[in-house]
Amino acid sequence: MKVGVLGAGSMGCGIAQIAATFGHQVVLCDTKQVALDNAHKKLSKILARLVEKGRIEAGEDQAILGRIEMVTDMQAYTGCNIVIEAIIENLDIKKSVFQKLEDITGDDCILATNTSSLSVAAIAASCQKADRVVGIHFFNPAPLMKLVEIIPAIQTSQATLEQARTLINSWKKLTVVTKDTPGFIVNRVARPFYGESLRILEEGIADVATIDWAMKELAGFRMGPFTLMDYIGNDVNYIVTETVFTAFYYDPRYKPAFTQKRLSEAGYWGRKAGKGYYDYAEGAQKPEPNADKALGQQIVDRVVAMLINEAADALFWQIASKEDIDTAMTKGVNYPKGLLAWADEIGIETCVERLDTLYEEYREDRYRCSPILRRMAKAGQTFY
Ligand SMILES: NC(=O)c1ccc[n+]([C@@H]2O[C@H](COP(=O)([O-])OP(=O)(O)OC[C@H]3O[C@@H](n4cnc5c(N)ncnc54)[C@H](O)[C@@H]3O)[C@@H](O)[C@H]2O)c1
Repeated sequence: MKVGVLGAGSMGCGIAQIAATFGHQVVLCDTKQVALDNAHKKLSKILARLVEKGRIEAGEDQAILGRIEMVTDMQAYTGCNIVIEAIIENLDIKKSVFQKLEDITGDDCILATNTSSLSVAAIAASCQKADRVVGIHFFNPAPLMKLVEIIPAIQTSQATLEQARTLINSWKKLTVVTKDTPGFIVNRVARPFYGESLRILEEGIADVATIDWAMKELAGFRMGPFTLMDYIGNDVNYIVTETVFTAFYYDPRYKPAFTQKRLSEAGYWGRKAGKGYYDYAEGAQKPEPNADKALGQQIVDRVVAMLINEAADALFWQIASKEDIDTAMTKGVNYPKGLLAWADEIGIETCVERLDTLYEEYREDRYRCSPILRRMAKAGQTFY
């Protein structure tokens, strides 16, 4: 099996590493030689560290690296069985690249895109044989993150979907299948983790440190939302939020927050900038949370209710199966529990009550309860 990877940035480099680790011949192509040089350096370092840690045998690092051919000309994709594209997130550029890929590769070569936010159908439409195009969405860093979302476009054939899923499963990843809608599963369902926390901050209900404390210590998330946003980058997180909001025809549920926009504009991008919601300068004091249990629980109940509503709504719109929605959030972003399983635990009726209380208070569409939750509460049903 010969695997092509297009784009040697953060994602392409990681995907090439995985494919070569599983024994495939890999062709990694980037228009910029400097990107390939950096990828080579980065991979050598990572693989050497894996040898040190005993994760791979001595010599295996060189063997893996030796299986990755680095090129600046896509012609080297001749004979590839699959090409996974991970270049800049721009529809016009991706479309023109897919047209070229189709000319170079054979008819049965799968053409996959790692896009986070573009429509797979729109990318596939640039190909004559669109049924072999599919979305394969890895998470960053690709070699470490277990989850991969597989996105069949309306043009994608069942055979393409199955072959793509089988291949990615053989790389010991957990795959979930999702409809070709904005944000797929993870980037859609996770929105309230950031959005509702920002709303609580903007309303002055609690400060950054307190919200982070509540979500981490009381709810069991690995990181509080503001720590996580600083880690992801407030510029990156803001763009994802705005893209999802726009792509959903401005559904108020996904409305971005000015706080985040201003941080992004000011260059307060988080860890990488030394400043975000927190100050990362040497010797800077971390603010103390107001560790009031009742306030903390109020924050948790509100954010978790909004997350559950989002997960339930994704099921309502048949974006993915309930199992895949829960797996996506536990394995893709390390949530402490699957959101639908969590809903069962809290009680669907309680979730509906919490959402209705928010709706009554604000009279905003943002807080509308998903029909599926309301129906289930009436019928006394559970997800599992
Ligand atoms: N970074 C993430 O967290 C993440 C996670 C999941 C998916 N994605 C998606 O993966 C894709 C790549 O993201 P990234 O963060 O790795 O980007 P990146 O900027 O790190 O790397 C992109 C690479 O593509 C190269 N490139 C650009 N145009 C090209 C072309 N026409 N032909 C060949 N190479 C070209 C660039 O030189 C660069 O090296 C995007 O679609 C992004 O939305 C990113």
